[in-house]
Amino acid sequence: MIARKALPAGPKSPPAVQLLHWIFRPIPFMRDCARRYGRCFTVRLPRTPPFVLFSTPEAVKEIFTGDPEQLPAGETREILRPLVGQHSLLLLDGARHRHHRRLMAPSFHGERMQAYGQVMREMTDRNLDTWPTGRAFPVHTCMQEITLDVILRTVFGMDEGPEQGRLRQCLADMLTLGANPIRLIPWFQRLVGFFTKGRQIADLLQEIDALLYAQIAQRRQQGGAGREDILSLLVEAHDEDGRPMSDEELRDEMITMLVAGHETTATSLAWTFHCILERPEVVDKLRAELRAVVGSGPVEPQHIARLDYLDATIKESQRVYPILPIVGRLLHEPLRIGGQDLPTGVMVAPCIYLTHHNPDIWSEPDTFDPDRFLGKRVSPYEFFPFGGGIRHCIGAAFALYEMKIVLAQVLSRASLRIAPGRSDPARDYLCPVAGNAGRV
Ligand code: HEM
Repeated sequence: MIARKALPAGPKSPPAVQLLHWIFRPIPFMRDCARRYGRCFTVRLPRTPPFVLFSTPEAVKEIFTGDPEQLPAGETREILRPLVGQHSLLLLDGARHRHHRRLMAPSFHGERMQAYGQVMREMTDRNLDTWPTGRAFPVHTCMQEITLDVILRTVFGMDEGPEQGRLRQCLADMLTLGANPIRLIPWFQRLVGFFTKGRQIADLLQEIDALLYAQIAQRRQQGGAGREDILSLLVEAHDEDGRPMSDEELRDEMITMLVAGHETTATSLAWTFHCILERPEVVDKLRAELRAVVGSGPVEPQHIARLDYLDATIKESQRVYPILPIVGRLLHEPLRIGGQDLPTGVMVAPCIYLTHHNPDIWSEPDTFDPDRFLGKRVSPYEFFPFGGGIRHCIGAAFALYEMKIVLAQVLSRASLRIAPGRSDPARDYLCPVAGNAGRV
């Protein structure tokens, strides 16, 4: 137990109450804390180490550039272990983390994106064909469908077919059940046991594992055979000593990419639609850029790097509505950060949301204005929707590429507006977003 006076000030309410704020009203909670306690404060939740949030570029830089042995990240993500498994990049630290990252990095290099871009466009077009005209529909759901299809094809290399169909269904069910992290907590699962969906997750994971191991075995037998998907690349990948990844490691990394990459990208897309549909002049500018760069045909890989306003729009939406509010590192040694001496065992957390809304960095921080990113290089300690340092999101380029393709295709093919009388997406939350829009 770390004494209160050893840590920066923070809310005095019991940890259970702070947890309720954190779950049900994270944004007002963080903003209230920043107003009361400043740019560094401590939050206490039940059964977790206290976490100290920072929102100045200096402190964020100290954390992201600090020694990873002193500031491991894997231990802060334990809640995901039942889902993603012990070999997941999310949970690894030290030498094993570096080893997995080296094996996985080539799958996410810039030039790989061109291969995935075709699938991203196809999946967007297929989904767009089903959109209704003249009535409201939830954009967020469509984005979830697209990003799931994209991951299943590009990461899992899934084709159509009964066996793949079953795996697809199981993975989709797992994402729905896993969307509520409380269902992953072991004591919660034990508490509600047989009568709840906690049980279903374990069953589902068993079925997913059987289907996934069969896919892995098939890939090992066939070899890469010119396949472009990430599973095929990872099956072929070897480290410096010629050692490939084991079946268990492959299984865990596949589930990791699905869990880390699906909902994040879908929600970020939904927020971007929300932001631009509230500002019709931004939509006009985006369309003008698309006409100038892409013309009347479909968006192709060579266009992507030239869509500067689209790039700025996505960044601005990720600044205003970052998908993850914080990233965490656990202190393994006492350390001075942001001028504060902190003891071992504390979780230090660069707060993405509060840094992105820090008025010392951003003028009118709550206003959505893509122009602020045009022609500017921004510090990675002032803007970091994908985290930072050696734990920076491995799928960031993939996600940005996909977002550009989806937005470009949708803006070229559909005319959307915010549905009249729709409930405002809960501004208090980072996720989920309602994102209702009507096609006109
Ligand atoms: C808009 C979409 C996305 C957002 C906002 C996002 C955000 C993040 C953040 C904030 C982190 C933690 C970084 C840190 O601790 O410093 C992270 C890590 C990670 N993300 Fe993403 N991500 C997105 C999409 C993706 C995609 C598409 C994939 C893979 C297909 C992916 C795979 C991962 C993995 C494997 C990690 C763990 C990296 C490590 O610990 O070394 N993410 N992401």
